[in-house]
Amino acid sequence: MTLKNTADRWGAVSQSLHWLIVLLIAAIAVIGLTMTDMSNGPSKIKIYALHKSLGLTLLALVVARLLWRVYAGAPGPVAGTPHWQERIASLTHWALYALMFALPLSGWLFNSTAGYPLQYFGLFNLPKLAARNEELAQLTRTLHETGFWVLLALVLAHAAAAFYHHLFQNDATLTRMLPGGRRTYDALADADAANGHGPSSADDRSQLPPTHPPTASAPASPENRNAP
Ligand code: HEM
Ligand code: HEM
Repeated sequence: MTLKNTADRWGAVSQSLHWLIVLLIAAIAVIGLTMTDMSNGPSKIKIYALHKSLGLTLLALVVARLLWRVYAGAPGPVAGTPHWQERIASLTHWALYALMFALPLSGWLFNSTAGYPLQYFGLFNLPKLAARNEELAQLTRTLHETGFWVLLALVLAHAAAAFYHHLFQNDATLTRMLPGGRRTYDALADADAANGHGPSSADDRSQLPPTHPPTASAPASPENRNAP
């Protein structure tokens, strides 16, 4: 697998960042949802600090992910995907990026306006984003909480779409975001040629997008590579 994204697959960097961020968001969300009900004491302070430090780590990773996305582009749409599905997927992806920024930033803003300190894993202090302000604290807290539920709803729809493509459309949408993954048409054709065999079995081919273009492994043009 290449580091960079190709015309038909996500590369190792995009895949690693995607799944690392999924795990990190899950951990931050579970901590966030449990910590508010804890009784006051040193453990509560520690768990809040952990929530915030992990949230700041997420912010840094999302910046890195977006920069890599701009540099490395994205695979073209999976063959056979209707245009309306591409549009919805694209809108969902950009909304997910927006929320991945909005959550840590609203958390940081709430923390600042509520007058709480902010340290990164006890290593150094981070500046306040705004001065202490009751009203703004209420607003940013609501934004942080509501933003989380919107993120959760979008993630559920996004994951359901990935499973739908995998199980019912039987295409490469999910596997091209997984390491190894399903063999592509070109890889199958190459393997067949190398083995001196005829075309792959019907069973193998049924695993592939119905109309995979023969040029799919050529580098994508900048136009389609940057479409989200
Ligand atoms: C992706 C990143 C983040 C996610 C998914 C997330 C999620 C959550 C959730 C689910 C809650 C519980 C809301 C509730 O039920 O009241 C929460 C609370 C909180 N979060 Fe985050 N958070 C993130 C990042 C941050 C960051 C970076 C900070 C601070 C720098 C932060 C500060 C807080 C604080 C102070 C609370 C407690 C609010 C209260 O006392 O009601 N969060 N967060
Ligand atoms: C916190 C949870 C998640 C977030 C924030 C998230 C975010 C994203 C984003 C922003 C993209 C677009 C990548 C880009 O254009 O740079 C993407 C792609 C993708 N995600 Fe997720 N995702 C999450 C969870 C999941 C889960 C649970 C699954 C599957 C079970 C999944 C499967 C995929 C797949 C297959 C793609 C590639 C789609 C394609 O090639 O068209 N994601 N994800």
